[in-house]
Amino acid sequence: MDKTYEKDLLTSAGLAQDYLAHVLDMPVFPSARARAGLSAFDEALPECGKDSTETLELLHRVGGPATTATTGARYFGFVVGGTLPAAAAANWLATAWDQSPSSEMNSPAAVKVETVANRWLLEILGLPASSGVGMTTGATMANFTGLAAARTALLSRKGWDVEVQGLYGAPEIKVVVSEEVHITVEKALSMLGFGKGRVTRVRTDANGAMLLDHVPSLDDMTIVCTQAGNVNSGAIDPIGAIARKAEHAGAWVHVDGAFGLWGKLLEEHSALFEGIEQAHSFATDAHKWLNTPYDCGVVICHDARMLQQAMATVAPYFREDGAYAPKDMVPEFSRRARGVEVWAALRTMGREGVAEIIARCCANARRFANGLEELGFSILNDVVLNQLVATIGTPEELAAIRAHVEASGECWFGPTVWKGKHGIRISVSSWRTMEADIDRSLAAIAAAKQAVIGE
Ligand SMILES: Cc1ncc(COP(=O)(O)O)c(C=O)c1O
Repeated sequence: MDKTYEKDLLTSAGLAQDYLAHVLDMPVFPSARARAGLSAFDEALPECGKDSTETLELLHRVGGPATTATTGARYFGFVVGGTLPAAAAANWLATAWDQSPSSEMNSPAAVKVETVANRWLLEILGLPASSGVGMTTGATMANFTGLAAARTALLSRKGWDVEVQGLYGAPEIKVVVSEEVHITVEKALSMLGFGKGRVTRVRTDANGAMLLDHVPSLDDMTIVCTQAGNVNSGAIDPIGAIARKAEHAGAWVHVDGAFGLWGKLLEEHSALFEGIEQAHSFATDAHKWLNTPYDCGVVICHDARMLQQAMATVAPYFREDGAYAPKDMVPEFSRRARGVEVWAALRTMGREGVAEIIARCCANARRFANGLEELGFSILNDVVLNQLVATIGTPEELAAIRAHVEASGECWFGPTVWKGKHGIRISVSSWRTMEADIDRSLAAIAAAKQAVIGE
């Protein structure tokens, strides 16, 4: 083993640069040949260590071509975003530091930078400065954590300490979700012991936003899970109105805003997000629309004490003076210093830079939708944010068009079923996507349509 970092880090930097120099031109979904090449990793566990340069080169040579080009400009599948240069580089530096931001005793630097990132997140998202913030692996865990705080808050009102007493014999909590609830919120609900089958599902409008009139009567033992950014349509529930209804009843409102919460930055969307600040807890991701590297989710809770009560760990080997410690805001005790790349992204982009990415993604989603309509596709949703669902022909023809585009390597998007109709789902969420990328993708789709359906 080489005892110096220099050789490996420089090798890695060179290989990463080579990858990023080619990512705009490589097939957006890896070719069958590249995927077959992955069998080169099927080695036996080495008895003696192998050379590190050769190891990194193997990773680059075999792994690189079989990646999906999500850091490129024409990946439209799922809602993943790319990674901003400064965020990727800060992530490397933090990896070299190898700091866990559990508490200041673990890493004064990582905790400080994360604390500033948390403050900036609240500011840019327009949420109360006194909120509690925690960084998780992603929105799945941010939803889990926000809903755990909700569970703690509601049960403690009834004199029940769920952290100590558990759920056996606890007063019952009712959970209201949208019929369009994200699968990871359901997962969070099941992990928290609420049972994803015991929820009340609220009907949605044609774009997938909850119908206010269908929200059942609420009480102080109810959690309402709302959504800012439907994974197909981008629809935003009428969260302000739901929060006002909840306030009278004492119910808790949680917002799954994995990507959609960032739409709040745009003035033109203010009506869609009206009153959202009144919700009690929020989950979002930095690794999606803020374009930081994986993984980074964010949980925000108005009442920081509830987050802390649900998540805090106490031990004599930690300071007991009540000092803020990130480990007390999330499930993880030890973890990556995620705040570093969030801080770097926000510092290098500023509010204006982030808003420009959000606005450009939304404008490019509309450009995509218009171009698809010109090609004869029907757009199945109201393109309110960066998401669109389109369809044409039979489900078999649509699948063939998708396969044709995938094989062209020009762009990538996934299949979906939206309100009972087969479609393709397109998410524009990378900082790198420009108008020319939309036009190039439309050209690839036009060629695929020509090959499958004809003029
Ligand atoms: C609306 C919504 N909620 C939750 C999630 C889960 O986020 P993550 O994959 O970061 O855990 C996603 C991811 O696509 C999403 O779009």
